[in-house]
Amino acid sequence: MTQLETRIRNAALRDRVVSADAAARLIHDGMVVGMSGFTRAGEAKAVPMALAERAKTDPLKITLMTGASLGNDLDKTLAEAHVLSRRIPFMSDPALRRAINAGEVMYVDQHLSETVEMLRTRQIPGVDVAVIEAVAITETGGIVPTTSVGNSASFALLADKVIVEINLNQPAELEGLHDIFIPTYRPNRMPIPVVSPESRVGLPFIPVPPEKIAAIVITEKLDSSSTILDPDDETRAIAGHLTDFFLNEVRQGRLDNSLAPLQAGIGTIANAVLHGLIDSPFHDLKMYSEVLQDSTFDLMAAGKMSFASGSSITLSAAKYAEVLPRLAEFKPKLILRPQEISNHPEVVRRLGLICINTALEFDIYGNVNSTHVMGTQMMNGIGGSGDFARNAYLSVFVTKSIAKGGAISSVVPMVSHVDHTEHDVDILVTEQGLADLRGLAPRERAKVILANCVHPDWCPALADYLARAEARGGHTPHLLEEALSWHVRLRDTGKMA
Ligand code: COA
Repeated sequence: MTQLETRIRNAALRDRVVSADAAARLIHDGMVVGMSGFTRAGEAKAVPMALAERAKTDPLKITLMTGASLGNDLDKTLAEAHVLSRRIPFMSDPALRRAINAGEVMYVDQHLSETVEMLRTRQIPGVDVAVIEAVAITETGGIVPTTSVGNSASFALLADKVIVEINLNQPAELEGLHDIFIPTYRPNRMPIPVVSPESRVGLPFIPVPPEKIAAIVITEKLDSSSTILDPDDETRAIAGHLTDFFLNEVRQGRLDNSLAPLQAGIGTIANAVLHGLIDSPFHDLKMYSEVLQDSTFDLMAAGKMSFASGSSITLSAAKYAEVLPRLAEFKPKLILRPQEISNHPEVVRRLGLICINTALEFDIYGNVNSTHVMGTQMMNGIGGSGDFARNAYLSVFVTKSIAKGGAISSVVPMVSHVDHTEHDVDILVTEQGLADLRGLAPRERAKVILANCVHPDWCPALADYLARAEARGGHTPHLLEEALSWHVRLRDTGKMA
């Protein structure tokens, strides 16, 4: 068999191979396009590039839905080509961020588990064309995704037409890694049968009728590597506080040494925190998360983690070079699922996850802002953090206590935007310490947060605010005329004080 025959096993589909440019011509101005891709992993690569190229002479605007952020500078390229009128549900590219904050692109910052539920129930306009990266098409026309599943399965099933990008450089060993399960329709929806991170409940491919596959494009471009930074003193300190906390939970008999299935958010801090568990006494750890980062594979290599379920694999260049050739070895310990399953509230609550996500800032009562700088400028989006935080066994948020060289305190009187309310936040950790907020009322939460999480430079000002607010009274005391004054000063002077 030729390489093409092994990658496109349905013989009748082989004559649908066309150029990226020809495939992109199936996409018209005003369409809703659902593309594969989740945190720089497994995105369709050639068709969006061809679309951006075409827009130079033939301007068009689309709504672009994906799983999450795209690699290979695609969000940047599409934003700079002015192709995007609407972007759903996650991004993390500076150029697209600028277009969103300028009001050019309408960004719908959605819980990652919800997008396909809204599509399925026709609460938002449906997908005209799906563009999905695949390692193979099976004999029956099933699409085998690459390094992410994201929303690809439902995009392909719900779209009018599907374009498949067969990536010859994505390892064929990825086949068998995926578990595609689509919830049944209401009112007769059945429980999602995932009862442990290892549960396999679906198919290893996306079961699309072959006649829906309108074009196939052959590509070779690799995923971009992640941009996370190595652990530093602060992130190591955060990991240390969290490890001490877990040790105490074990001593109290609330957890055992395998803890509970872990979820960790994207970014440098969450990755560093997980990395910190390598030097802990915990073992037989499992993940039920959305992004599997370097730390997942480091924990496996260290013999600390026995299984990981996610929706994508996003690694640094060095880790890709290490993991991809050893995929067959890792495969029995991995599952990639649709993001509505990896993030599903029902499953998150059933499995009792320890969820570790990152805050930009939190306030003295434990409300968390993960998305908006100064309450107005979008950073990346909420991602899956809300899916996990609300339904977690333990909802942990981590951040450094200061940002921008100390000009910003990450602990503020009142957050300038709320992504996770105090009701969804159990534990807050900075390099200064850990605040255990479980079972505490707002006035108690404020004292624990001030005593443990605030940078010493900002303690006096926060303590003064709290004392004067408490004197005014209230269940959640605030000085309304001052609550956002730190952000106003930051906006006007570049410093919160
Ligand atoms: N105000 C303004 N800027 C702040 C800030 C604050 N309170 N706190 C941090 N920042 C800035 C940092 O200075 C840094 O800026 P830079 O990019 O110019 O260097 C940037 O925000 C990122 O912060 P960093 O400390 O490097 O953390 P990170 O890489 O871990 O990212 C989030 C933090 C919150 C942006 C990121 O985790 C995120 O997008 N979260 C939301 C999505 C999510 O949680 N998904 C979870 C499921 S995957």
